[in-house]
Amino acid sequence: MDKVIINKILLGVCGGIAAYKSAEIVRLLRKKNIEVRVVMTHAAMQFISPLTFQALSANPVCTELLDVEEENAMGHINLARWADIILIAPATANSIAKFSIGLADDLLSTLYLAAECPAYIAPAMNRAMWNKAVTQDNIQRLKNQGVHIIDPTSGEQACGETGLGRMSEASDIVATITQNKTIDTLKGINVLITAGPTQEPLDPVRYISNRSSGKMGYALANIALNAGANVTLVSGPVTLSAANGIDLIQVETAEQMYQAVFSKISEQDLFIATAAVADYTPLNTSKEKIKKQDSSSHIALQKTKDILTDIASSPNRPGFVVGFAAETTHLEHYAKSKLEHKKLDMIAANWVGKTRGGFDSDDNALEVFWKSGQKTLKMTDKKHLAIQLITLISEKMNEKNTT
Ligand code: PMT
Repeated sequence: MDKVIINKILLGVCGGIAAYKSAEIVRLLRKKNIEVRVVMTHAAMQFISPLTFQALSANPVCTELLDVEEENAMGHINLARWADIILIAPATANSIAKFSIGLADDLLSTLYLAAECPAYIAPAMNRAMWNKAVTQDNIQRLKNQGVHIIDPTSGEQACGETGLGRMSEASDIVATITQNKTIDTLKGINVLITAGPTQEPLDPVRYISNRSSGKMGYALANIALNAGANVTLVSGPVTLSAANGIDLIQVETAEQMYQAVFSKISEQDLFIATAAVADYTPLNTSKEKIKKQDSSSHIALQKTKDILTDIASSPNRPGFVVGFAAETTHLEHYAKSKLEHKKLDMIAANWVGKTRGGFDSDDNALEVFWKSGQKTLKMTDKKHLAIQLITLISEKMNEKNTT
């Protein structure tokens, strides 16, 4: 089973014209705050200089097996242990053949053999070499060993021929290895998340509430914790339990949630309002059970305080504030209006009341909006959706902090 958290990637670069794309891979991974160490074969150095990778990765580039200086800096076995993922891009037919049968005659193939982490291989070669039965056998052997092959694409090749064998684009390779993974992007960040419904009591035995199960908020709390954050979870009544390490504050009413959030807000860097907080609460709560009356009865309601709006405009506003929007019509219009009126950095909108997704469902889909953009996170289980949302939040937080 692959690791869900990745912070450190070992990139092996073999000798092929596609090696220039590997520089872009390093740049994209660094943008995601992933540490990258690059190992090059001798042939790779004919195509691109180690200095390029050193500058982009901000780490020394390793090229030699048993070089005294390199072994001093980080021995090859330690380098193999260090990585959460090993990515070989581009992988030539020769290297693929070596990996598939366990040959270890240079630094990269030795590291590959010594690595126990998940391996991703992005082949790049002439179409005839790719189609050759022996190469396909080697690829199949690697797949059987659990290696992830990032298939080459079709198109014009450096040799002048056209066909299958071009290495995938850098952005596709990065998306493949990071999808469904948490990156340690919230390390040391204090995050406060609200989750679940609130219950507004009418009398000692009845309350007004909604169908929120807390699954979305708890998934976000777990993923934020995995991403290195210090997580406080203010939760309405749900049947879920919080992971070890999460500071859980349980509340019942909207007013209690408001007080709990405000008592913790001055310490926070990020606030995510996933809770389905009641917009109205009974004006009066009866001390005794309300008796059955005539054919109809009325309950006087008063508006609750809007936690999200008040946090976003408070003097203790966290650096980044994310709201949710639950809509049954005009999702984009209402979400964008909440983004603006509530002065948020980001809003994650979901359809509710549909057959799949939203309240009390294991799956969900989100349309995420921020001032200068938007992104669709497709229907999937709430854990994987939370991974994507936390990744997006950390990217936008970084952008905000660096502008
Ligand atoms: O809990 P699950 O079953 O997993 O379902 C997840 C969910 C559907 C509840 C979740 O994805 C979601 O949409 N949460 C927000 C629900 C909601 O109340 O949306 P809203 O559009 O009414 O509110 C907008 C935002 O204001 C929300 O971030 C809400 O937390 C916040 N709010 C609302 C009222 C209030 N008094 N205080 C608030 O902070």
